[in-house]
Amino acid sequence: MDPRRSRALAAVLLAATLTGCTGGGEGGGGEPGAAGLGDPYFPELGNGGYDVRHYALTLAYEPRTGRLTGTADITARATQTLSAFNLDLTGLTVHGATVDGAPATVHRSGSEVTLRPGAGLRSGDTFRTVIRYSGTPVTLTDAEGAREGWLRTSDGAVALGEPTGSTTWFPGNHHPSDKATYALTVTVPNGLQAISNGEPAPHRPSGDRTTFTWRSTEPMASYLATLAIGRYETKTSRTPDGIPVHTAARGNAPLLARIPELLAWETKRFGPYPFTSTGAIVDPQIDVQYALETQSRPFFDKNTFDASTLVHELAHQWYGNSVSPESWRDMWLNESFATYAEWLYAEDFADTPAQDSFDEAFADDDNWAFPPADPPTAADISGPPVYGRGAMVLHKIRQAVGDDTFFGILRGWAAKHRHANASTEDFVTYVEDEAGEELTTVWDTYLYGDGRPTGPSA
Ligand code: TRP
Ligand code: ZN
Repeated sequence: MDPRRSRALAAVLLAATLTGCTGGGEGGGGEPGAAGLGDPYFPELGNGGYDVRHYALTLAYEPRTGRLTGTADITARATQTLSAFNLDLTGLTVHGATVDGAPATVHRSGSEVTLRPGAGLRSGDTFRTVIRYSGTPVTLTDAEGAREGWLRTSDGAVALGEPTGSTTWFPGNHHPSDKATYALTVTVPNGLQAISNGEPAPHRPSGDRTTFTWRSTEPMASYLATLAIGRYETKTSRTPDGIPVHTAARGNAPLLARIPELLAWETKRFGPYPFTSTGAIVDPQIDVQYALETQSRPFFDKNTFDASTLVHELAHQWYGNSVSPESWRDMWLNESFATYAEWLYAEDFADTPAQDSFDEAFADDDNWAFPPADPPTAADISGPPVYGRGAMVLHKIRQAVGDDTFFGILRGWAAKHRHANASTEDFVTYVEDEAGEELTTVWDTYLYGDGRPTGPSA
């Protein structure tokens, strides 16, 4: 059997044999929602039968002990008649849950939490489920060996969620196809800051604790949710367009001052900025060897805070964050645009034509390891072809259609799927519509083909 299917089956058998139910009643009619959304790389991520609209997370964190206490108040809509439904949560202990105010039975099996409400939910119903939980959130090592999830520092922690780390700090529907709005309320010891996505409400001191509140009013995929707790220096300014810029860093980070300028340049290239605030979080205590495009507030570790990476993470706000992948197979749609933004930055700011960047990427054997639209395994979704060869796809489109149509495609793609999800098929169809011709050679050679082309198809 396919190892993925046998793992999914094992999870079902485990769920069937595990007891450990708490609270709740007998359940109503309908079927249980699926335990996963069948993503090609992470079949158990996400859950079937409902669609989250809003997460209201109330958290308290103790950096000394590493202990997190949380309540997740989730508003969702049932997309089928549901006798039970699942949430994804890795580690942590669930203490109890309600659905529409009534106690629900809680089953736990690994990273799957099953809630069975006293009365079933009808398709189309909007419902609220409240989950109380606590524990010491874990750091995950993902398939390619990178660390994500909950990362502790000397005075706090940083939550990084791609692709599955968001499951380590709140229960939810952790697949990029289910975007939702968020409100985060975080209580930490005085002297520490708590930074998240979106816009802050005034913080409230109470005794020896302070409570910070952040709201994301545009939809967000859960892997883009972040929380950084620590002794940060925070600043608020505005872009010339009036967009608030919220930054957090440990001491001096002069590059932060370039955010308004770079965002203005990207707005010219990509169209209206999709979110109601921007900024960055820079924490040199974190050494994960990557930056992350956490929504409206990209995160930079000790190795990654440079101008080109800042351009890359800001470009993701259009490509990846506003236009989100339908599944983890569509990762190249995120990384190709963000990498191409770096090529455009080199073109506009350093007199390096994108053609030079293309030639360099073309010469790199690593970019030909597999087709960007079809990474062989979960360990490859952030591999070099997804970035370098993905950007080559965009450059070949530019060569085929010319600059005017190409820059129209960059803006039009962001506008067409603003705050929604899109797949590789959607992209191919959109580009050919705009180009007014089929680009079969580009797709066959760069997007889906095996190996470096030679001769006329290159
Ligand atoms: N998306 C990050 C970037 O800006 C890189 C990254 C970190 C990543 N973790 C990942 C990509 C997991 C795919 C999967 O390039
Ligand atoms: Zn990226």
